[in-house]
Amino acid sequence: MTDTHNGKSSRRSWLASVLMGVGLLASYGTLAGQTLSFLLPTGLAKRKRRIFVGPVEAFPTDAVRPIRDLEGNEVLVKRTKDGFQAFSSTCPHLGCKVRWEADETRFFCPCHNGVFNADGVAISGPPADAGQSLYPAPLFVDDKNQVVYLEVDVPR
Ligand code: FES
Repeated sequence: MTDTHNGKSSRRSWLASVLMGVGLLASYGTLAGQTLSFLLPTGLAKRKRRIFVGPVEAFPTDAVRPIRDLEGNEVLVKRTKDGFQAFSSTCPHLGCKVRWEADETRFFCPCHNGVFNADGVAISGPPADAGQSLYPAPLFVDDKNQVVYLEVDVPR
């Protein structure tokens, strides 16, 4: 009777030890995962996604059309016979809104008269003095299906 009792007690003790070990491993594993996600650069915790912008034919040649990214930021999409380019409409100088001036074939920032050529390169005003060009926005054009996408970072 004593042996059986000791045997059950020993099995319970062994099972309790195993369960405690599994619990500790799960806890430390979770802690290690949380620590790594905190320490890793945020760029590693993001992935690229393509968001649908529209069919190619929705963008007239030699024109600029504004669109919005997932965060509501304006992106200026320019189409020429050579293809597409896209830029943030946020001025790299102090963040005012840049607009396309078709008659001058340039981007213009009214806050401090910043001027950018059609490729987004600053050519006069404070952005030119500081060598600040427009921020490019990555586009993907699916030539086969004739669809334009904006590439954005999204959290994992
Ligand atoms: S904010 Fe655009 S030129 Fe200053």
